[in-house]
Amino acid sequence: MVPRITLRGIQKYYSASSAPAVKDLDLDIDDGEFLCILGPSGCGKTTTLRMIAGLEHPTSGEIQVGDQVVDSVEKGVYVPPEKRNMGFVFQSYALWPHLTVQDNVEFGLELRNVDRATRKAAADEVLNKLGIAKYRDRYPSDLSGGQQQRVALARMLVVQPSVILMDEPLSNLDAKLRLEMRAELKRIHLETKATILFVTHDQWEAMTLASVIAVMNEGTLQQLGSPDDIYNHPRNRFVAEFVGNPPINFVEFAADETSALSTSMQKYMDGVRPGHGVDAVGIRPESIRLLSSGGDTPNTAYVGQATVTSIMPTGGSWIVELVANEQRLFATTNTVPDVKAGDNVMFWVEQESLHLFDGNGNRLPDVDMLRELPEGKYYREQNVVSSVDHTA
Ligand SMILES: Nc1ncnc2c1ncn2[C@@H]1O[C@H](COP(=O)(O)OP(=O)(O)OP(=O)(O)O)[C@@H](O)[C@H]1O
Ligand SMILES: [Mg+2]
Repeated sequence: MVPRITLRGIQKYYSASSAPAVKDLDLDIDDGEFLCILGPSGCGKTTTLRMIAGLEHPTSGEIQVGDQVVDSVEKGVYVPPEKRNMGFVFQSYALWPHLTVQDNVEFGLELRNVDRATRKAAADEVLNKLGIAKYRDRYPSDLSGGQQQRVALARMLVVQPSVILMDEPLSNLDAKLRLEMRAELKRIHLETKATILFVTHDQWEAMTLASVIAVMNEGTLQQLGSPDDIYNHPRNRFVAEFVGNPPINFVEFAADETSALSTSMQKYMDGVRPGHGVDAVGIRPESIRLLSSGGDTPNTAYVGQATVTSIMPTGGSWIVELVANEQRLFATTNTVPDVKAGDNVMFWVEQESLHLFDGNGNRLPDVDMLRELPEGKYYREQNVVSSVDHTA
């Protein structure tokens, strides 16, 4: 598929003296993709979306939509937002205060000279879908924040844009309504096949919605991949830690931070460290299995001992805090744990559930592949063998 939206070498400085809000950003977004831009506050999500919308200029670089360059300082091209055929809902959604909900939603259609009956039918459909038809005669000032947010969504959706940009559009909704709106957005995406760019700092929201997630930190793209990729093959420690709740556990191998647990794991991994540059092992909480809960332990698994220090029910699942060789680990389970605080337990982790990272925080291949590498070679990036000796 031809990428529908392309960003090349995008830099954004709000002022010459400050750090860039967005740095060296290359992004290809395919037609019909549901892309979530995910990252902590201030990482450049809104800035990226506003540049794609045409509300903000990149300092350098090029943005293309379809075959058309819409922004390029170098080429002196700039296509204004209203000519980009995109619909957007931004963090600060401005509804027309002097128009009712119904009129707010119909407004975009009126601008497009759609006749009254068609306008009304289209607005009714979206208002019903988003569960706000009952507020149709109210003015925005008489609505709650969450209701206003849904009106802003309705107003954008009613004109059926082929590209939809949304910046935290569900932030004011309670948990149940948020989930319902997410399901509705997914349905709308399936029905309309629109390309959707959705900004959120909520990793769970991104995982549930996206076909592709772009994880950003400090203005830089950290990883672009499917939710499965991002969760199961995080490219670096930042991504590994940002996605997942409770967060991934790290066992540090660096000399000044080793614990008895890391010594035992290094022994298990047998010869991998230090020649190949493993600096830390990440273990997702659900990958830690308590032996007491039964089942076979694969003979390639890491098996350790720990003391249960706390059990925290979360309603339907449990977080178990363990201390293994003086190191705290969090495990999760979906079945009632048959252990209690103070118990000594055995736990195991399958070899393929160990995420290895080098000293720069970049992901390394798994244990088996590293074992096969000659001493003195280590992986610099995924699948690229470098001859740099990490121990030197
Ligand atoms: N108009 C502006 N003038 C100067 N600096 C700005 C402006 N807008 C954003 N910034 C800075 O650019 C960086 C990125 O901001 P941006 O709004 O893109 O972050 P964000 O990822 O959307 O964060 P949040 O999740 O809090 O909305 C921040 O450091 C911010 O302070
Ligand atoms: Mg923002």
